[in-house]
Amino acid sequence: EKGGYAHFMAKEIMEQPEAVRKTISPRIRDGRVVLDDLHLTADYVRGLSRIFIIACGSSYHVGVVSKYSWEKLLRRPVEVMLASEFRYCDPLVDEKTLVIVISQSGETLDTMAAMREARRRGGRTLAIVNVVGSSIAREADDVLYTWAGPEIAVATTKAYTTQLVLMDLVGLYLADLLGTVEKPAYEAILSEMQLLPEKMQGFLAHTEDIQYFASRYFNHDSIFFIGRNLDYAMGLEGSLKLKEISYIHSEAYASGELKHGTISLIEPGTLVVALGTYAPLFDKAMSNVVEVKARGAEVLALTTEPFRERMEKTADATISVPETHPMLQPSLSVVPLQLFAYYVALQRGCDIDKPRNLAKSVTVE
Ligand code: F6R
Repeated sequence: EKGGYAHFMAKEIMEQPEAVRKTISPRIRDGRVVLDDLHLTADYVRGLSRIFIIACGSSYHVGVVSKYSWEKLLRRPVEVMLASEFRYCDPLVDEKTLVIVISQSGETLDTMAAMREARRRGGRTLAIVNVVGSSIAREADDVLYTWAGPEIAVATTKAYTTQLVLMDLVGLYLADLLGTVEKPAYEAILSEMQLLPEKMQGFLAHTEDIQYFASRYFNHDSIFFIGRNLDYAMGLEGSLKLKEISYIHSEAYASGELKHGTISLIEPGTLVVALGTYAPLFDKAMSNVVEVKARGAEVLALTTEPFRERMEKTADATISVPETHPMLQPSLSVVPLQLFAYYVALQRGCDIDKPRNLAKSVTVE
């Protein structure tokens, strides 16, 4: 059942190219995003005053990525909120509010309750769900499925990446309706998106370096992930993956916040995973690497192939991923972070597919 892999998590990481392909390919036709099962008119979208993205855990992290990319595409306010917070905060939802809920299982209680609260206030709901026919899928006004297939490991991997690419598709679709994206940019993103499965596959064929870095760093008891913009959003997921399955304390910070407190935690030998895959801010990422190195940190850097050489000059260890359009970069860049968490947990002898105290679907508050 694990298809020759030691754990479901490893199998599901390897299934990502196919899961991403299945999620995007039926929705791209003649160079356009086609979402037949979505019933939003251009007039409705133009009349929106705000968009909320609501979810828990890793699905929430997808929302954090999407807030950055959607606001850039749509030039409209997009607010991302944890479902458990949204449901009790007297949220500003009315008829002109679109509420996107993201859930792999479609059964998460807080997400379900938040969705009901949004509908009660007159908002329209669109669910991004993996499990067909699940409760959230049945109750939402519209539903779009990620075609990741069954995910067994408690720590999500292929559901996360398929949620990311589906949110990118929906963002492009809405931007097209609004006329807020130029044709060349729209086309460039779509054609890069179609190359993602291949690039992911290529990367997954050679992951020995990640295994090696995991064996070098698995004994650290605290790890910090730093990044800016989409790298920060992705760092939240990298950090969660690591802590949930390896039980190492880890946190993700926006690099610009280091000086406002976090840097006091950096001492000689502290492991910092520096994320520098978002090309528009690579130079800023580099200067943060220099800054933590100056405090004695051990830096494991993640960047894209074109920037590898520059990063290697300063970081102690460097992993590089293929480059894609900056908006799509997190769906490739997160893969080494998933693998790093996996191999670290393996070195530490953890129960990878069933981490302590966690359940695959959280149906209680
Ligand atoms: C982390 C993880 C959880 C889920 C969260 C939401 O690896 O799997 O954080 O992302 O419990 O679950 P869904 O997406 O099913 O609503």
